[in-house]
Amino acid sequence: MSLLNRRFVVVGLIVLLSFAVFSEAEASYGAYKVEVINEFPHDPEAYTQGLLYAENDTLFESTGLYGRSSVRKVALLNGKVETVHEMQASDFGEGLALLGESLFQLTWLQDTGFIYDRYNFSKFKKFTHHMQDGWGLATDGKVLFGSDGTSTLYKIDPKTMKVIRKQVVKSQGHEVCYLNELEYVKDEVWSNVYGTDCIARISPKDGTVIGWILLQSLREDLKSRGYKYFEVLNGIAWDRDGDRIFVTGKLWPKIFEIKLLPLPPNAPLIGEIINLCIPKPFNLGNLES
Ligand SMILES: *[C@@H]1O[C@H](CO)[C@@H](O)[C@H](O)[C@H]1NC(C)=O
Ligand SMILES: *[C@@H]1O[C@H](CO)[C@@H](O)[C@H](O)[C@H]1NC(C)=O
Repeated sequence: MSLLNRRFVVVGLIVLLSFAVFSEAEASYGAYKVEVINEFPHDPEAYTQGLLYAENDTLFESTGLYGRSSVRKVALLNGKVETVHEMQASDFGEGLALLGESLFQLTWLQDTGFIYDRYNFSKFKKFTHHMQDGWGLATDGKVLFGSDGTSTLYKIDPKTMKVIRKQVVKSQGHEVCYLNELEYVKDEVWSNVYGTDCIARISPKDGTVIGWILLQSLREDLKSRGYKYFEVLNGIAWDRDGDRIFVTGKLWPKIFEIKLLPLPPNAPLIGEIINLCIPKPFNLGNLES
């Protein structure tokens, strides 16, 4: 290699390196819009608080509201509720996770929840947890991840319900409060953010938001079809084997199977993410998660 060539190589390397550093700083999180691959019927009376995919086109769902709370087994394809356990009127169902043969369910404004036999909802017992409240629940197959409406993501030992680790979820320095329904998806924790049409993709290693999924189009789609009485986006389910993602909301008439489409860095929506996805803290007193 001549001296001249060597100089070119060195300059080239420096240019490449600075590009790498620059683009890493730029792309501190990914932003995605969604394409709807499929839609399925969903009980429009279900105030969805927890959703998960088990297998064989079967979902488990937890619903909220006093007097209307339940845990249910639902057929994905026709939305039929195959089995349901109605909770007592003083319990408000929240996050749900399936670990082994057990369904763990949180309840709102209480530090207790229930563990059901997934094959027989009449077999259940109560547990106590150590979060401030019960909002979202997910599992990686070993531990539970929980949310309580704050910006804290909890890692919980399912045997003792003790908190193993707490992380404050942040997106470029902004704390993300109101973490709600959770799902574990390929080494990430995905979280609905209460009151928004956004899902945060959180690194369970350090609580950093590594991606924002913008789902405003789903609400617009439902509205344009004349649906009026549906509430906020809530409920994420991942079919591990089929690598399918399903989302719905409280009192939504549909469950959508979605595919993520990365937004280009100059997409106008990206500048709006802080406003659209990161709620300002407000009085939690009268908030129904
Ligand atoms: C799923 O469906 C297959 C084929 O019908 C069946 O063998 C299997 O037991 C089902 N799994 C569960 C958990 O129901
Ligand atoms: C479900 O569990 C209850 C309570 O243990 C029991 O009485 C009932 O027979 C079980 N049902 C089935 C279908 O196994």
